Amino acid sequence: MHPAWLPDAAFAPLGSRRVLVAPGPDAGEVGGTVVDEVRRAVAAHGGSLTVHAPGDGVLDTAALHAYDLVLAVARSAAHPTGSVAGIPLPSTEVDVFLTLLTPSDAADVATTGLDEDTFVRMQTGGATVVVAGGATGLLYGLHDVVRSGQDAFVGDRPTTTSRPAAPVRMLDHWDNVDVHPVMGQVERGYAGGSIFYADGRVRDDLSRVAAYARLLGSLGVNAVAINNVNVHRTEARLLTDGLADVARIADLFRPHGVRTYLSVSFAAPMTLGGLGTSDPLDADVQAWWAAAADRVYATIPDFGGFVVKADSEGQPGPFAYGRDHADGANLLAQALRPHGGTVFWRAFVYNHEQDWRDRRTDRARAAYDHFAPLDGRFDDNVVLQVKYGPMDFQVREPISPVLAAMPRTRLAVELQVTQEYTGQQQHVCYLGPLWHEALGFPLADDATRTVAQVVSGVPGASAPARDLTAGGITAVSNVGDDEFWTGHPLAQANLYAYGRLAWDPTTDPVAVLDEWIGLTFPDADPRVRGTLHTLMDDSWLTYEAYTAPLGVGFMVDPLRRHYGPNVDGYEYSKWGTYHFADRDGVGVDRTVATGTGYAGQYPPPWRDLYEDLATCPDELLLFFHHVPYGHVLRSGQTVIQHVYDTRADAVDVVTAWVDAWAALDGLVPDRLHARVAERLAEQVRSATEWRDQVRTYFFRKSGVPDASDRPIY
Ligand code: GCU
Repeated sequence: MHPAWLPDAAFAPLGSRRVLVAPGPDAGEVGGTVVDEVRRAVAAHGGSLTVHAPGDGVLDTAALHAYDLVLAVARSAAHPTGSVAGIPLPSTEVDVFLTLLTPSDAADVATTGLDEDTFVRMQTGGATVVVAGGATGLLYGLHDVVRSGQDAFVGDRPTTTSRPAAPVRMLDHWDNVDVHPVMGQVERGYAGGSIFYADGRVRDDLSRVAAYARLLGSLGVNAVAINNVNVHRTEARLLTDGLADVARIADLFRPHGVRTYLSVSFAAPMTLGGLGTSDPLDADVQAWWAAAADRVYATIPDFGGFVVKADSEGQPGPFAYGRDHADGANLLAQALRPHGGTVFWRAFVYNHEQDWRDRRTDRARAAYDHFAPLDGRFDDNVVLQVKYGPMDFQVREPISPVLAAMPRTRLAVELQVTQEYTGQQQHVCYLGPLWHEALGFPLADDATRTVAQVVSGVPGASAPARDLTAGGITAVSNVGDDEFWTGHPLAQANLYAYGRLAWDPTTDPVAVLDEWIGLTFPDADPRVRGTLHTLMDDSWLTYEAYTAPLGVGFMVDPLRRHYGPNVDGYEYSKWGTYHFADRDGVGVDRTVATGTGYAGQYPPPWRDLYEDLATCPDELLLFFHHVPYGHVLRSGQTVIQHVYDTRADAVDVVTAWVDAWAALDGLVPDRLHARVAERLAEQVRSATEWRDQVRTYFFRKSGVPDASDRPIY
């Protein structure tokens, strides 16, 4: 099993030091993990570990100076000792650590509190000191030190307080227990089988899950849904007969601060309970869900809750009973409420039986049309989970307007780490920059409040604090039982970046990539770092440049599971994903004036900006407008020449990556080198196919010659 970003060598700087861990009286299993990590590191690298147990008395500052690294929990909920100047004081055993805070750090901690997940890191008296609010904060602080390598111990670093932006940082697994005849073991999975299931049941050997949990805990990911949102027959039973197995999985996530969730079927009262209905307003249905939740919590007391895909792509839901999504979500919320559980209800609801002849229906409008009118009706333990774009995880989409339209609803944004539409882990496509842009997009309150702030519950003009509770950040995972976890070894960077950006969406994604390179390839030749930056920094934009142009989306092959080009593959289908290319032009008119009206779902200034051809950003032009091929972009180029040039140029870029990577032979592990080389060859082949089909298609439609004179077929 590949160690990903936690190889032993990454622990060398910490492991060669004298380390004191004071996990506090409520350390629990997560505190135990911190101690274990340090124990393993010092055993391998010659340092020492001292565990300061609650009964060991008070440490004085002199004793502290016998250590290079001190990791301590500052406060104990179970043993509060009051507060001084608004600072919650720790249990006496470790109170010395808070006295180490400088007045300004202390003031910061006093204002914001030092909650479970938060840690303060400082250097004092020659030691690096991490003071955390709880065991999870201690784990996150430990990995903050690991990520800094030697820098954690040399020079003067400013004191920093770190806390996650959003309370829930979740990964969803689209894993099936049974191999699905069409979708396989992992729906949209590109990394082999499931780490959870094989042979129609939960695996006996879950050692990979334990290793995965450790990787997630190191990033601060704290929630995992372990089965596909499309809940088939066998998977539905995880909620009932399968609970003992779910508990085995939850036991492995718990020591890393990760709570376990299940995707459930809205029809479960009928399919599992034998009732005649799943109507959310039916008393028997309500009682069935309450009893189901009681059983779950009797087995898994810290169970997170449910993820639900309802009335979406054929999944059952409340519409069958004339009820709406608030009725549906609140039914499950009521069942979870006594136990502190949460419903993640997905907003991915649209008509997937559309007649392509019908030009008025617009799939992009659907989530807003269904959900915005329900704002304020969801219970407070419901989180509405909204895909970042209005369509479906395309390489380029505008941000979903739902995220600005529901100030009285807890919202989570959903990203896709698995590369369904971004190269299926055959192509290098580093998604950190896409997520950074999406999370940082100032969608709400006159372009002053970002998506990350909305889902983190940061108040704004449209959402006064009293109405708000944060939702979170979720994503579909990209791992499987593959030797490298992710099929393409470089796709590990996407999982890493997701965790780091979910913790702090403002982090520079290239810096995140650099951090990943340093951890994954410790002590590597500097050429490794340089080449990985060459391949990966802009690989999202490169992928965009050889696939569907200017935000139009799709053009993927339905018969090859969305892999590779097929410009008209979805054009005359029922799925609502069209580009409307004809001899004169291309793109979807989503304006209010002449189109589907989708642009009108945005708050100002975005509504006007997208509506007007003169202000609509080039990269989204064909998402919002149908334009003639001769339309001139801001770059000064026509649409058709842009399509021709960018596709051809992008293939040249990818082709150059092959030689760059070949030069690393012998500088990275052989098997990894070979795997990446094999995938790069496929990326060149596939990108070439994209280039030639898209260029040729638009030449045949438009008849406009390519001014660059490069081959068209
Ligand atoms: C996409 C994907 C499906 C998935 C769906 C979802 O449409 O192709 O496999 O089920 O998204 O997010 O529910």
